[in-house]
Amino acid sequence: MTTRIGLVGAGFIAGRHLDALARIEGVTVAGVADPRADRAEVLAARVGAAAYAHWADLLDVERLDALWVCVPPHAHGPVEEAAVDRGLPLFVEKPLAADLGTAERLAARIGDAGLPTSVGYHWRYLDTLETARDLLAGSPARMVLGAWLDRAPRVDWWARQDGSGGQTVEQATHLFDVARVLVGEVEGGWATGSRSPDGPGDILDVCTAALRFASGAVGSFSNSCLLPRAHRIGVELVAPGLGLWLTEHQLVVTDPDGERTIDREVDPFEAEDRAFVAAVRGEGDDVRTTYADALRTHRLAVAVATAAADGGTVQL
Ligand SMILES: NC(=O)c1ccc[n+]([C@@H]2O[C@H](COP(=O)([O-])OP(=O)(O)OC[C@H]3O[C@@H](n4cnc5c(N)ncnc54)[C@H](O)[C@@H]3O)[C@@H](O)[C@H]2O)c1
Repeated sequence: MTTRIGLVGAGFIAGRHLDALARIEGVTVAGVADPRADRAEVLAARVGAAAYAHWADLLDVERLDALWVCVPPHAHGPVEEAAVDRGLPLFVEKPLAADLGTAERLAARIGDAGLPTSVGYHWRYLDTLETARDLLAGSPARMVLGAWLDRAPRVDWWARQDGSGGQTVEQATHLFDVARVLVGEVEGGWATGSRSPDGPGDILDVCTAALRFASGAVGSFSNSCLLPRAHRIGVELVAPGLGLWLTEHQLVVTDPDGERTIDREVDPFEAEDRAFVAAVRGEGDDVRTTYADALRTHRLAVAVATAAADGGTVQL
């Protein structure tokens, strides 16, 4: 039986999902919605889908089995609520929202409805992340260093606090999510941030946090968007006799035998889409970040961003 999918948002990440979904047997992307109708049309034309300028029309007209929500952080809310009203399983891109209140409200609605969900923390599908977790099972992490040192993406909403929630919420959230998988939950800590005179938009463009994990491990996480291109994005871990450096592309392992580099073999975007399609069909159980789980990551990212703005304590 064909699984009919709708895409809301027709920007960069929607294009990646569209291409991944088109490779899955038995999947039809039925419609694409974006207020920038030209974008919806271009994306829809790639797979012969219908284009809509408003997601409400997509939901009203098409018979869908699941919805992929690929809107900017500030645009979350109404679309998820309408999907819940229709009982539609939801794939939602990270971050869940630009703020915490919207995500908390949606999590409650989605939880009450008991709908299948998946959230786009695609690092969870890296085979190298699984290798890192296996290695740390024998020697638990005592310290984690996360870095997201990059340029500011050139989309109009990104460098606005009310558009994206800031870089910590929008990008460094991946680092916090990986740290939760590899090190466990954060108990608290401290953060600070600053704006540069020529920094983009109105967001903090340098931010750093020192965090304490329930396991007793400690972590430091820094992000900046002042660079001309991606410079250093990943998570380093220190455990007794074991050092790890995980990026989206590789895992470097240092142990008593020496140093080795393991390249990823999985396309994590395709893997997360395949896993959610299987879950929607009732054929699989490999969703690695449900909405409820992603809310914990989002809560942490917002807590760090809030503390950074105040130069203060990370309160969870
Ligand atoms: N998992 C990842 O690594 C990853 C990578 C890139 C982007 N993302 C996330 O995906 C989201 C979108 O990012 P992007 O790079 O595709 O941005 P983008 O600006 O390229 O695309 C967003 C699109 O959403 C549209 N839009 C805005 N409001 C809408 C609404 N109410 N209904 C329908 N469409 C609406 C915009 O017109 C735009 O075309 C962001 O939250 C971003 O963090 C995740």
